[in-house]
Amino acid sequence: MSLYRTKNIDDMLAEAKKDGLKKVLGPLDLVLMGIGAIVGTGIFVLTGTGALTAGPALMISFVIAALACGFAALCYAEFASAIPVSGSIYTYCYATLGEIVAWMIGWDMLLEYGLATSAVSVGWSGYFQSLLAGFGIHLPTALTAAPGSVPGATTFINLPAMLIMLAITSLVAHGVRESARFNNLMVAIKVGVVLLFIAVGVWHVNPENWRPFAPFGMAGVFNAAALVFFAFIGFDAVTSAAEEVRNPRRDLPIGIIGSLLICAALYVAMAAIMTGIVPFRLFAGVDHPVSLALQMAGENWIAGFVDLGAIVGMTTVILVMTYGQTRIIFAMSRDGLLPKRLSSIHPTYATPWFATWTVGAVFSTIAAFVPLNVLAELINIGTLAAFALISVSVLVLRRTHPNLPRAFRCPGVPVVPLLAVAFCLFLMAHLDKLTWVAFCIWLALGLAIYFLYARRHAVLHDQGG
Ligand code: ALA
Repeated sequence: MSLYRTKNIDDMLAEAKKDGLKKVLGPLDLVLMGIGAIVGTGIFVLTGTGALTAGPALMISFVIAALACGFAALCYAEFASAIPVSGSIYTYCYATLGEIVAWMIGWDMLLEYGLATSAVSVGWSGYFQSLLAGFGIHLPTALTAAPGSVPGATTFINLPAMLIMLAITSLVAHGVRESARFNNLMVAIKVGVVLLFIAVGVWHVNPENWRPFAPFGMAGVFNAAALVFFAFIGFDAVTSAAEEVRNPRRDLPIGIIGSLLICAALYVAMAAIMTGIVPFRLFAGVDHPVSLALQMAGENWIAGFVDLGAIVGMTTVILVMTYGQTRIIFAMSRDGLLPKRLSSIHPTYATPWFATWTVGAVFSTIAAFVPLNVLAELINIGTLAAFALISVSVLVLRRTHPNLPRAFRCPGVPVVPLLAVAFCLFLMAHLDKLTWVAFCIWLALGLAIYFLYARRHAVLHDQGG
């Protein structure tokens, strides 16, 4: 039974109190933090591929993906309000479902956060190049994308993606954590360019472009939903600030659900306008579809602003994800499930320096050589699996800890958590077979490491758990 040993929730809450992080964040900070982590490559880049897959019905795909996230977000919010400690679902699962489940979810999140940093770096690179092109500067083609990712062009390496990832790694390793104020500024810029796009683009919509609405039927709509789900990933980042929130039990659910709702509304509007300006087939092979739409509408100046805003926006997503990744590794290492070296703290910078550079080296290489679509699908499958598990965990927690105070209770239990599971599994089923194979290999590797290493080195093991 030691596979299912759990950490004690009261101990965890006491530990969080002892650490004494300053409680300064309010509900608005959290909503902005959520938007900061959400709006990025998904909306600025993957909408192009999504439109090719679903046609103008892409707006419906966004609604479906938002519903999957929404149901899961309600479950997330209950957890976050009941166990307001940082470490996200890995920590929640260690307290409820037991060590092996926590390990697998942590392992799964390493894939999610790590590859997400690579994927967003690739998206960043596309907009960076579009901006440079606006000034007449063109990088040698061979250095602009992963091998084989641009039809008809010979490419070797995505150099800008690799360099931005390394630059951010260096920032995080030196202890730069985006402050709430910096984040709020970045969010204002991001949301600003999105609103600018909507306000300008809406006048260029030609409803003819919306016909036929769903050229590839519902299959296309669902496949696109499974892909653009990526655009919503990140609202869970709000929970990582749990220990710094003034009134976590009330404000965390507001942060999670509020940021998700705002982004869903913006995304549906953007998808409608983009496919209304550009006949969807023209998005083939385009890595900066939002600014392309404006260029085609003759709004070159505004397109330049959108490029700039997208670059700024994606930079913060990389930062938040890199930060999140290193903190999960840190938590797992502190619990003894990963080598201790990974939670060692640099004497000068006071950061998990070694873990940060390990992450940076691996995922900047991946950013350099793997195309975006492949990355996005892998991230989605990992995240959807995690969301399904968190939804099940809510049901388990209701049984195992019925009296734990929960400021926010997921409504409609068990229907809502079960709907979350159903939506997540449904979207997973629409991902590529190769994605499934890669995901299964990753999980098998995780299980092997658990039994060969983590189980015996766990801190709970030494405590006779
Ligand atoms: N949702 C984040 C993005 O789209 C991961 O960049």
